[in-house]
Amino acid sequence: MWFFLSLFQANPLPFLIIILLQATTITSLEASSSSSSSSSSSSSFSSMLPHQNKEKCKWKQFSDYRCAEEVAGDQKKEGIASMADVQLQIQDDHVVMDNGILKLTLSVPGGAIIGIQYNGIDNLLELHNPQLNGGFWDLNWAEPGNIGTRGQFDVLNGTSFEVIMENKEQVELSFKRPWDTSLQGNHSPLNIDKRFIMLHGCSGFYSYAIYEHLEDMPAFILYETRIAFMLKIDKFRYMAIADNKQRYMPLPDDRLPGRGEELAYPEAVLLVNPVEPQFKGEVDDKYEYSTENKDNGVHGWICFDPPVGFWQICPSNEFRTGGPTKQDLTSHVNPTTLAMFVSAHYGGEELSLQFGSGEPWTKVFGPVFIYLNSVSDEKNAFSLWDNAKEQMKVEIQSWPYNFPNSTDFPKSDQRGTVTGRFLVHDRYASEQPLPTNGAFVGLALEGEAGSWQRESKGYQFWTTTNEEGYFCIKNIRAGNYNLYGWAPGFIGDYRLDASVIITSGCEMEMGDHVYEPPRDGPTLWEIGIPDRSAEEFYIPEPNPKYINKLYVNHPERFRQYGLWERYADLYPDGDLVYTVGVSDYRKDWFFAQVNRKTGDNTYETTTWQIKFKLEIVYQGGVYKLRLALASAMSSNLEVRINDGQANPPQFSSGLIGKDNAIARHGIHGLYYLFNVDIPSDQLRQGDNTIFLTQAMNTSPFHGIMYDYIRLEGPPLPPSSTTTTITSSNNQNHL
Ligand SMILES: *[C@@H]1O[C@H](CO)[C@@H](O)[C@H](O)[C@H]1NC(C)=O
Ligand SMILES: *[C@@H]1O[C@H](CO)[C@@H](O)[C@H](O)[C@H]1NC(C)=O
Repeated sequence: MWFFLSLFQANPLPFLIIILLQATTITSLEASSSSSSSSSSSSSFSSMLPHQNKEKCKWKQFSDYRCAEEVAGDQKKEGIASMADVQLQIQDDHVVMDNGILKLTLSVPGGAIIGIQYNGIDNLLELHNPQLNGGFWDLNWAEPGNIGTRGQFDVLNGTSFEVIMENKEQVELSFKRPWDTSLQGNHSPLNIDKRFIMLHGCSGFYSYAIYEHLEDMPAFILYETRIAFMLKIDKFRYMAIADNKQRYMPLPDDRLPGRGEELAYPEAVLLVNPVEPQFKGEVDDKYEYSTENKDNGVHGWICFDPPVGFWQICPSNEFRTGGPTKQDLTSHVNPTTLAMFVSAHYGGEELSLQFGSGEPWTKVFGPVFIYLNSVSDEKNAFSLWDNAKEQMKVEIQSWPYNFPNSTDFPKSDQRGTVTGRFLVHDRYASEQPLPTNGAFVGLALEGEAGSWQRESKGYQFWTTTNEEGYFCIKNIRAGNYNLYGWAPGFIGDYRLDASVIITSGCEMEMGDHVYEPPRDGPTLWEIGIPDRSAEEFYIPEPNPKYINKLYVNHPERFRQYGLWERYADLYPDGDLVYTVGVSDYRKDWFFAQVNRKTGDNTYETTTWQIKFKLEIVYQGGVYKLRLALASAMSSNLEVRINDGQANPPQFSSGLIGKDNAIARHGIHGLYYLFNVDIPSDQLRQGDNTIFLTQAMNTSPFHGIMYDYIRLEGPPLPPSSTTTTITSSNNQNHL
C-alpha cells in the first residue's frame, strides 16, 4: 500500500515536499514553488504504517522488575535480607505501609507524608518547621484575571482514603479530594487523586497523582504543582544534584535576619553570620540549583550519621511542562527536595495552564520514585550518590511502570513507538540534507512550530537523533500530536504539518524529515552559536562579595548570583561595541543585554553596536538580520541600521518575555527568532553599524539574552548557493 503525505514547512521558502512512504522505499521529491496543492492540513500519520526500522530501535523490557534486586552494593544485601511482605496498618488518622525496608506513614484522609522510617532513623522528614513540614503534594492556582504567577497555595488535603490494592507484593493507596462547589474560591477546581505505592523488596516508594477538570468546573489558572519533601534539618546536610553539583549546605536559620541579608529578591540571601563559619560570605539562592528537565532525573541529600541517602528519581519527562530544555528547581536549603511538574520558572505566565469553564482535562503527574539507600561505613557515604544514579537508570529502563493501578496510566503495551530520521538542509551550508547528531525530536500537543516550549496541558515525548540522524521515540501515550524538532547549530523550529495519531501498541516508521532552517542568502557574519543558550558568550566573574563556592571554576558559572550587575562595572560609561572580524564573542559579547544602574532603583536602557564593513552593497537586494534570542524579560528589542536615532526603528519586537532567566541565573529561558529585513538602501559600502536597543528600563532584571545573530546577504541564484559555503563560514568574508 502506498501512503501519500504532503508536507509544508513553516518556512519562508514556498517549497512543497512530498514524501512517499512505502514498504521499503522512501522517496523525496522537491516540487516547484507552486504550492497550489498544499492540502496538507488534512493529512495525518496513522498507526497503520508497517514498522520498518526495528533494528534501529532496540530497548529492553523489564516486565518483572523489582527495584531492590537491581541495585548493587549494601542496598542489595539489605533488600535480599528483608524479604518481608508489604504490610498495611490502618489507624484512625494515619496509615502505615511497611515492607521491612522502610515504613511510610501518611495522614488519613489528607494523604500528607508524615513519616519515613528507614535504617534506624525514626523519621527522615522534619515535622517541626515553622511553616512547611513533612512531604506533600501542592499546587498554586488562581481564578481567571489574576496578575502574577503566585496565586493561592493549596496543599491538596484529601477528603477520602481508599486502599486500591493490597497484597504481599504491592500496596497502593489513594487519597482523593473531589471538587466541591461550596469551596469555590478556596480550592482549585479540580478532582485530585493522590496515589502512593510500596512494592515488596523495594527501598523506597512511588507517588503519582491524577488531576481532572470536568465539564461542571469553573475556569481557573494552574501555575505550579509539585511534590515537596522537608527533610530532617540535623540529618541531611549534603546535597547532590549532579556529579559536579554537590555540596554541604547552610542551615535554614542561616537565611534568617541577623544571620542572612536578603539581596535583590527574597530567595537570594547573603550569609553574613551563619551557624557554621565555613558558609560565611556565600550567597544562598535555590535558583542556583536549577536544571533542565532533560538533566533532572535524580537529586537529593546525604546524611552521614547513619549514612543514608534520600533521592527523588523522575524516570520520565512526559508529564513535565515545556519540553526538555525547560528549567526548574531541584533541591535546596531547608533541606528540601522537590519533584516539579508544572511551574512558571524560566518561562513565565505563558507556561501556566489556563482552563476555560468546563474545559475537560485529565493529566497524570508521575509516578516519581523516592529512593532511600544506605551504606554501613560513613567513609562510603558519598557513594550513595553513585548508587542513586544507578537506580535512576533502572527506573528509566522500567518506564512505563507496570504496577500503577490506574487506567489513567497506560502500560507499555498500550503505548506507541515512532521512528524516523531527522535531517537538516541549509542550502548555504550543504548541497544535500545532512544528519545532525543530537538534534531534538519530539511529540507534543498540536500547535505551531516551536509551540512545545510553552505547552503545558498535554504530555511530551522527546529524544535526540544519533549520528545518522535516526530517532526512536518510545512509550508514547495514545493521542494526537505534532512532530517537532530543532537542531543545535541551526536556527528555528521544525514542525511536521500533519497530525501524528498514536494508538495503543502502534509502531510507526515515519521516514525522513528534512528541516530547512530559515535562510535567504549567504552568511556575511555571525555572532555566537545557534543552540538556544547564551552560554558561549562572555560570562563575568561574580562580585567577590556574592560567591557560591560550588560555581567557582565550574562549567555553569552563569549560576552565580548578581552577574547582571557586572555589566555596569565592565561598561561604566559607554555600551558594548562589537566589531565583526576583530571582536571575539566569547570575550566581547556580554551574556545578557541588561540595563545599567544609575542610582537607587533607576536604570538606563542600553544600546549595543555591531560594526561591520561591506565591500559591495547589492542595490535592490534585501539583506536579512537573524536575531535568535535565548531569553527575554519584559523587554522591547529595537534594531536600527546606521542611524542610532532613527525613529521609528527598523524593527521593534514589542514587549516580550516573562521568563526571568537573568534574575534566576538560567542561561536561557524561552527561545525567540526574529527575522529582520534590511533593504540595501539602508546599508553603505564600507563601514556600517547595527544598533540593538533594549528599551525597557524599570528593573535590573529586564533584558535579553542573545542566542545567535547572523547577517545574510541578498539571495543568490539557486545554482550558485553552494559555491559560497567555505567563505560563508569565515567571519571576515565581507
Ligand atoms: C486536612 O483536613 C483535615 C480534616 O479532614 C484537617 O484536620 C487537617 O487539619 C487538614 N490539614 C491541612 C494541612 O489543611
Ligand atoms: C488493578 O489491580 C487488579 C488486581 O490485581 C487488577 O485486576 C486490575 O487489572 C488492575 N488495574 C489496573 C488498571 O492496573
